[in-house]
Amino acid sequence: MMSETKPSPHLPVRLRRNRRNEGIRSLLRETELSVTDFVYPVFVAEGAGREEPIPSMPGISRKSIDLWLEEIPELLNLGLKAIAPFPVVPEEKKDKRASEALNPQGLIPQFTREVKKHFPQMIVMTDIALDPFNTDGHDGLVSDTGEILNDETVELLCRMALCHAEAGADFVCPSDMMDGRIGRIRSSLDDAAYTGTGIIAYSAKYASAFYGPFRDALQSAPKAGDKKTYQIDPASRREALREVESDIGEGADVVMVKPAGAYLDIIRDVSHTFNIPVCAYQVSGEYAMIAAAVGNGWLARGPAILESLLCIKRAGARFIWTYFAKEAALLLKNQEHR
Ligand code: PBG
Repeated sequence: MMSETKPSPHLPVRLRRNRRNEGIRSLLRETELSVTDFVYPVFVAEGAGREEPIPSMPGISRKSIDLWLEEIPELLNLGLKAIAPFPVVPEEKKDKRASEALNPQGLIPQFTREVKKHFPQMIVMTDIALDPFNTDGHDGLVSDTGEILNDETVELLCRMALCHAEAGADFVCPSDMMDGRIGRIRSSLDDAAYTGTGIIAYSAKYASAFYGPFRDALQSAPKAGDKKTYQIDPASRREALREVESDIGEGADVVMVKPAGAYLDIIRDVSHTFNIPVCAYQVSGEYAMIAAAVGNGWLARGPAILESLLCIKRAGARFIWTYFAKEAALLLKNQEHR
């Protein structure tokens, strides 16, 4: 027979004491999500009254400018502060030199002007890179031999940034990973007296498989090759710090780590190493993974969304670009009323 043993109550450290009810947990909680943590990336299409769902991003659509303008009051009411438009450029407007990127009547300048005219309080963050506009689907110009041309690309990016600044963008956000673009864009903006237009630098942008659904959404996948000669190797950490350091030196106002969920160590390193605001981009593939698992009944939607975002913030991101922005804002609002 087994002898009866009575458990001893003496155990000075009992960490569960701090978790015993929601009131205590909420007092001791170290990180809290708020609606001001989110930037909403949106896909902007030509035409009017147009809405096209994106199969690899269930719940997300490409929409024409008029539909986005109708939706913005709802976004502002939820407390969202920032929107980041990405253009769906029709194939016939793409060319080798990405000319459409410089068109002041193009989708992004038009979207920006309209949003700032009707909702000046909404912060507009525009993407600076050539991939939605050139026939090659690369962030830079491609030479006859298939090389991505750095300095020639940077010249175009400067003109593109000016075009967005003129339209009223609050921040231009170079996502191209060409060398030296932050400094050149800063001085182009300053030369034109856009000293108040900010730069969010996609500094630690990795060559990631998780951008797949975004490239479906914009039909912008590279026609040949991959982006490994300009985006960072996922195996490297110190290189990301070097990228951030140089972008800060060149005048970035905010730096970004992208993707987010699989790169929490990079977010943490960057936020601990530098005194600059850090944001992170929960990319299309991260959205797709959660949406697919939820769609199959394998994950609980709300909790999975909020946990994925909370952990990115805990790692050190001050704000997060996420396709869940609107839904997460709603989830937080409903939590308040419980
Ligand atoms: C384009 C750009 C990309 C993303 C943002 N800007 C794609 C890429 O670099 O291939 C990806 C965003 C996402 O996957 O949600 N320079």
